[in-house]
Amino acid sequence: MAAGSPPGRSAAQGDLIVGYPDVRPRRLRASPAMRRLVAETRLDAACLVLPLFVREAVDAPIPIGSMPGVVNHTRASLVEAARAAASAGVGGVMLFGVPAERDAVGSGATDPDGILNAAVRDVVAAVGGDLVVMADLCLDEFTDHGHCGVLADDGTVDNDATLARYADMAVALAQAGAHVVGTSGMMDGQVAAVRTALDAAGHRDTVILAYAAKYASALYGPFREAVDSALVGDRRTYQQDPANRRESLREVALDAAEGADIVMVKPAGTSLDVIADVAAAVDLPVAAYQVSGEYAMLEAAAANGWIDRERAILETLTVIRRAGADLVLTYWAAEVAGWLGAGQDEVLRGHRGAVPGGLPPTPGELPPTPRELSARDANLREFREMPTRSGAFAVAGEGVGGAAAEGGVPTGAAGDGVPA
Ligand code: PBG
Repeated sequence: MAAGSPPGRSAAQGDLIVGYPDVRPRRLRASPAMRRLVAETRLDAACLVLPLFVREAVDAPIPIGSMPGVVNHTRASLVEAARAAASAGVGGVMLFGVPAERDAVGSGATDPDGILNAAVRDVVAAVGGDLVVMADLCLDEFTDHGHCGVLADDGTVDNDATLARYADMAVALAQAGAHVVGTSGMMDGQVAAVRTALDAAGHRDTVILAYAAKYASALYGPFREAVDSALVGDRRTYQQDPANRRESLREVALDAAEGADIVMVKPAGTSLDVIADVAAAVDLPVAAYQVSGEYAMLEAAAANGWIDRERAILETLTVIRRAGADLVLTYWAAEVAGWLGAGQDEVLRGHRGAVPGGLPPTPGELPPTPRELSARDANLREFREMPTRSGAFAVAGEGVGGAAAEGGVPTGAAGDGVPA
């Protein structure tokens, strides 16, 4: 061995360096600054879209039991939540309407004064210049049977009759000012029907975000509570079987050919393989929807102190982006955008570790509401009273400048900026 070679080095000078002990991947993980420099995927508030629910004829926001921190908004509180999302830097909002009355064809969806169309007008007027306003284009919230389309005499969902309703709904939403319509009903031909109707009505610039690969998922359960769904049974005759992967590429190719501007995969966390396939197959932006059940599972685990809420949220969003999603719909969009505010990326936050009460507000982040503060205090108190937990999260402490243990005090902040 040549004099001066590092201890343990086996290769002679000039030899190819092919592995240990010369090659040491850990060098690039040794400090928070190094990890931050070489991170392949970054989260950015601009790629996050916040789904919001607005309910007709309510005078106060109604909490959704299975989605702590998410509410059914009044028209007024919806506007406030949209403003908060815009100030946090969120890229867009996706609106869902819950009407007071329902019927077989979902008349409320095409009524210009129906709750969703009215809410679109409100939100576009308030923040339409600051973020992208999207609206769900589907009948399930508006039908008394809860299906995404109209029914044939034999009780099955009538694909082609539904397309005519979607066409009318698309025009109503575009007239209300929606920048983007999200075709989420999984009817065959829905993107073409909507594009044709929009263009015929002069709405050439309205964007279609196609729920292209949408699985019949148990993870939509909390959403069905959120929209007070009337559905009995399931949607397996139109949404996809989670067993299928190639089928998603077929659905995506059809939607792209029909004129989709953005294609979406849903749910996100259980479809990372599909997101990657789709991102490789199309030259359109790819969206992924982190759905209500993904939110509920993580919130429930965090509320029990079983998981580090903040790290888990950032990890799930980061890997959805890593799989290939350009934009992500998530009920944490506004909160995460606040975290990301002043260069507070994941690594830096891990570096700083736990700060009692959470990190100080960053410029551009709204001060917490009294409700958020009291929820945060309650969570902190509970957290401190559980001594056995402190060791469980002490994984971030190793390495140069690593934070001490307890790298994740739950903040308990509301998921969608609910006004107090
Ligand atoms: C249909 C629609 C659903 C969701 C978004 N759009 C419900 C369904 O397909 O049953 C689910 C979103 C979520 O679970 O967060 N309008």
